[in-house]
Amino acid sequence: MLIPTPHLPIWVAALVVVGNCEIDRESIVRQYNLKLNQSHPYSPVQIGNGNFAFGVDVSGLQTFLPHNTLSSWGWHNSSLPTTPNQTAISDFTGQDWWTHGRLVNYNQPNPAEKDISQWLIANPHRINLGRIGLWFGDKNITENELAKPSQVLDLWEGTISSSFSWNGKEVYVKTVASPDTDTVAVGIESQLLGSGDLGVFFDFPYASGKNKFDAPFVGLFNATSNHTTTLITKKNRATISHTLDATTYDTQIVWESDAKITRTRNATHRYVLKPEKGCETLAFTATFAPKAKNSRVSFADVEESAADWWSDYWSTGGFVSLPTSTNSSAKELQRRIILTQYLLAVNGAGKDPAQESGLVNNGWYGKFHLEMVFWHLAHWTVWDKWDLYDRSIGIYDRFLKSSYDRAKHQGYQGARFGKMSDPSGHSAPGEINSLLIWQQPHPMWFAEMEYRKSPTQKTLQRWDKILTGVAEFMVSYAWYNQSTEAYDLGPPMYPVSENTNPNQTINPTFELAYWRFGLDVASKWQTRQHRAVPASWRTVKENLAPFPIQDDVYVLYEGVEDMWTSPEIAADHPGFLGLYGWLPPDSRFNLTAFQHTVDKVYASWDLANLYGWDFPLMAIAAARLGNGEQAIRWLLDSNNQVNEVGMPEGGNRVATPYFPASAGMLLAVGMMAGGWDGLEGPVFPEGWKVEVEGFQRAM
Ligand SMILES: *[C@@H]1O[C@H](CO)[C@@H](O)[C@H](O)[C@H]1NC(C)=O
Ligand SMILES: *[C@@H]1O[C@H](CO)[C@@H](O)[C@H](O)[C@H]1NC(C)=O
Ligand SMILES: *[C@@H]1O[C@H](CO)[C@@H](O)[C@H](O)[C@H]1NC(C)=O
Ligand SMILES: *[C@@H]1O[C@H](CO)[C@@H](O)[C@H](O)[C@H]1NC(C)=O
Ligand SMILES: *[C@@H]1O[C@H](CO)[C@@H](O)[C@H](O)[C@H]1NC(C)=O
Ligand SMILES: *[C@@H]1O[C@H](CO)[C@@H](O)[C@H](O)[C@H]1NC(C)=O
Ligand SMILES: *[C@@H]1O[C@H](CO)[C@@H](O)[C@H](O)[C@H]1NC(C)=O
Ligand SMILES: *[C@@H]1O[C@H](CO)[C@@H](O)[C@H](O)[C@H]1NC(C)=O
Ligand SMILES: *[C@@H]1O[C@H](CO)[C@@H](O)[C@H](O)[C@H]1NC(C)=O
Ligand SMILES: *[C@@H]1O[C@H](CO)[C@@H](O)[C@H](O)[C@H]1NC(C)=O
Ligand SMILES: *[C@@H]1O[C@H](CO)[C@@H](O)[C@H](O)[C@H]1NC(C)=O
Repeated sequence: MLIPTPHLPIWVAALVVVGNCEIDRESIVRQYNLKLNQSHPYSPVQIGNGNFAFGVDVSGLQTFLPHNTLSSWGWHNSSLPTTPNQTAISDFTGQDWWTHGRLVNYNQPNPAEKDISQWLIANPHRINLGRIGLWFGDKNITENELAKPSQVLDLWEGTISSSFSWNGKEVYVKTVASPDTDTVAVGIESQLLGSGDLGVFFDFPYASGKNKFDAPFVGLFNATSNHTTTLITKKNRATISHTLDATTYDTQIVWESDAKITRTRNATHRYVLKPEKGCETLAFTATFAPKAKNSRVSFADVEESAADWWSDYWSTGGFVSLPTSTNSSAKELQRRIILTQYLLAVNGAGKDPAQESGLVNNGWYGKFHLEMVFWHLAHWTVWDKWDLYDRSIGIYDRFLKSSYDRAKHQGYQGARFGKMSDPSGHSAPGEINSLLIWQQPHPMWFAEMEYRKSPTQKTLQRWDKILTGVAEFMVSYAWYNQSTEAYDLGPPMYPVSENTNPNQTINPTFELAYWRFGLDVASKWQTRQHRAVPASWRTVKENLAPFPIQDDVYVLYEGVEDMWTSPEIAADHPGFLGLYGWLPPDSRFNLTAFQHTVDKVYASWDLANLYGWDFPLMAIAAARLGNGEQAIRWLLDSNNQVNEVGMPEGGNRVATPYFPASAGMLLAVGMMAGGWDGLEGPVFPEGWKVEVEGFQRAM
């Protein structure tokens, strides 16, 4: 058995060089600069800062394709339903389900309250803040009319340089986002500016709020009468205020040469910024904020601060250099690692955990999922990028009170975290949403990783109330079964894979292991603070039902039938593989049984149906078993594609990108590079020359 020993020295192995700032990071990063010559129909090239992102087409702006401008703070509510008795949030009562002999009220859509249930699912939804594109006079230009389109995303500096020629005249556009404010800075050079044939338009859509997946383009540009925009101009500055029902925000535009902004006559919410005749450059910044703050930020300011931020981002924390010149798999993986690091800083580093599609488009109405927080944030810890992790890890504290309320409402102790969330912590009604439980121990995983980094009183205090609240819920949720004399998890419940009958699902392997892990960390937290561990925590942990095994292999849950041949089960998240890899080995863990389980998954699972973090999960398990070759194979599986701009393809185009796959891949690579307690050597394929530096060891 491998026993966690957090303070082992960093391992050094034959082919892996573990160093400190030895790798020429800049040259590796720049090798993967995007070089494109056409727009991607559903994956924009992006700039952004984690809380704000601006997606562009080949013009460097949103000229031909209305790619989105999304933020952490831009949200909207549709009007409440007018159906009798469903006109207020308080009219929603959810559903009562039998739970171990008592009725528990769950936050589930109620067929008798269909409209208010749906309203609560769809509201608030994230809004597209606006579209900024090139304006070609009265002409309606298409991308096909451009000659020599060319676009480069410089990853080291966070800038997009685009150029093309139109009507024989060159156009250069440079686009960059501020790391500090939600600002896009744009510099344009062209003779067309001087001749009055080129300007920049700004357009503002209404919120749609109708589609669970609002992709690839968010918002309605044709519902012009449902919202208002007003323009206030001063010399070289303008503020456009946009009001969509109760939501109002400002776009502040500041430009540097002589130019004028006006509303276009035939399109209500479209404004055009045009330079004076003879002026062949136009530089401006557009800052989006709930309320304009008199920004005077210039293009050059933003360009400089972005270059500083991005070079610092690449220079700190973990870094991996793979043998890209000798092995094409290594090259593809290196490409994915670098592009993913860029995309997660843009899309997955905000004040709230990311939505699955980041700030590219809206999935699940723009809401984020608390069970996905593990996949979105865990990689920052092993890559030693705590400042980005810190931006959103505070949700456990922010949502603690409403989680206590949720548990109490259901007759449990402690704090039960919700699922599909908006920034206020409201969890959307849903059968799965209300019955999933694997999000509960995530705070224990994060707290422990943080403590390994900073074993201080401050860390203990930061997580103390949270871990206590979660542990109390976990203990009170486990149900003592008189006949087996063990504590059961469920029913009703959904396991990670969300595909079983919740009224029959009992004692899923992964959840049992995660419960034991979580209670173990919560107990250590008490001990570290010289407090007694509550007896009930120990009792439940020691007496949880055993991990279910059938025919020598771990199964999804106790008593599951025909799991290996069921087309529903053997095609979904194989979450139970998290038993070894994702989680450190439990004292009940049986390596032989696990090895058999892995073999059985490889042999019988419908891999074509897997996506997202399934592949990283399997890679982590393979790596923990010492099979680096197989780990790489999973990360590069043909069902796990990453497109030319670095975005992971979801189960379908609408659900693309699916960032838990990206973040999970970085976690897998980070663990393979940084190792875990008890690991003696590297886990990359034999013969690969790999250099790594700056990682934090996992548990
Ligand atoms: C972009 O480059 C590809 C590959 O070099 C080429 O086939 C394609 O025609 C180019 N497209 C445009 C619009 O120039
Ligand atoms: C949407 O409505 C909810 C419930 O009234 C409220 O808490 C929230 O602040 C509203 N959000 C927006 C963006 O208007
Ligand atoms: C609304 O509620 C009232 C009182 O609870 C009830 O009498 C009435 O039938 C309900 N109306 C509808 C349309 O459900
Ligand atoms: C589970 O049981 C509840 C009653 O407690 C019932 O309302 C619900 O329909 C059942 N769900 C399924 C999926 O069978
Ligand atoms: C506005 O009018 C111009 C012609 O005057 C036309 O080219 C443009 O497409 C129109 N825009 C819209 C949104 O109708
Ligand atoms: C511009 O041209 C495109 C492609 O021909 C067409 O789809 C679009 O409707 C046109 N837009 C306007 C405003 O005329
Ligand atoms: C507005 O555009 C959407 C698609 O973007 C379309 O489904 C809808 O019918 C349009 N509505 C009107 C009033 O034109
Ligand atoms: C716009 O407002 C009209 C009138 O209130 C309403 O019928 C329509 O559904 C609204 N459109 C959207 C997209 O909300
Ligand atoms: C690259 O490395 C992988 C993993 O070891 C190996 O399977 C593959 O054959 C190698 N490819 C080449 C071209 O060397
Ligand atoms: C107690 O555990 C047994 C074996 O897991 C199970 O079949 C039974 O349903 C449980 N009892 C209750 C009341 O849930
Ligand atoms: C571990 O699992 C294997 C195969 O599933 C089994 O034969 C063995 O008895 C188990 N070991 C223990 C200690 O339970």
